[in-house]
Amino acid sequence: MARKDLLDLVSLDREEIDLILDQAVPFKELFTRSVKKVPALKGKSVLMLFYEPSTRTHSSFEVAAKRLSADVTSFDVFQSSIVKGESVRETIETLQAMRTDYIVVRHGRSGLPGMIAGMTKASVINAGDGSHAHPTQGLLDAFTLKEIYPDLTGKKVLIVGDILHSRVARSTSTVLKRLGAQVAYLGPGSLVPKAGPDNIKRFTDYDEAMKWGPEVVYLLRVQMERQDVQYFPSLREYHKVYGVTTERLKQIDDRGIYLMHPGPVNRGVELCDAALDYSRSLINRQVENGIAVRMAVLYSLKPGGEGKIEGGA
Ligand code: CP
Repeated sequence: MARKDLLDLVSLDREEIDLILDQAVPFKELFTRSVKKVPALKGKSVLMLFYEPSTRTHSSFEVAAKRLSADVTSFDVFQSSIVKGESVRETIETLQAMRTDYIVVRHGRSGLPGMIAGMTKASVINAGDGSHAHPTQGLLDAFTLKEIYPDLTGKKVLIVGDILHSRVARSTSTVLKRLGAQVAYLGPGSLVPKAGPDNIKRFTDYDEAMKWGPEVVYLLRVQMERQDVQYFPSLREYHKVYGVTTERLKQIDDRGIYLMHPGPVNRGVELCDAALDYSRSLINRQVENGIAVRMAVLYSLKPGGEGKIEGGA
């Protein structure tokens, strides 16, 4: 793959997606060996630039880069000169001077990783930007589902919750559709954007959505931090209407449906406690696969190019 950056999944074609997912398979096999490292990125440097909190993405990128033998630096935004008002442009100029090869960036502002990519020769990987995209989450979700269903053609995945604010919903539905799956959204009308030209069914009623016959139910985290207005009456009400309650978990089990969630889970909101121990929950497997997929992404990108510093941020 001759690509410098990974900013979203819309711009990846099927061949590029297949290459990354295929490459993640041997990387995952490494995890069972006593030596889990390969020298693929020896001498390269990876910088983690997270302006928003993260557990899974940050730690799995760090582990992924170390397993490829890269040198990893975690830039602590809150201990940096950013708190003194240094702009993103100045920060990237400084990092460029350190000749970093890869920058993994998470930011609350949609489009910011793309802007950084235009400023630096380093490969920029979007680790989640605002409500725009979370491409490595989409790829690890696709990888996880392909372990269950090697051919995703026609498989039905119901994504439930706060679609409006969710970069995960955008990236995961993009890659799953590209791989031939059918995707539907379920959530309160206030959190599910109106039907667009994307062949995605929209449901506001849980029972109607289950009649559609999904093989997978993918619960999104309710993102209180991105909600500037109240989109539903209460979290308790949300759980009753859209969450996997104890009663619904039994129906999900009877139908052999798989459960997914990008984490972190709001217990008692998206999922009841018992759902976390459900035998067809793929949540822990998503986390494990995140390392292999992020190794494949780092391995596939090609740092270099123009990297002009221009514009402000
Ligand atoms: N899924 C995900 O992005 O989780 P983190 O916020 O913990 O990275």
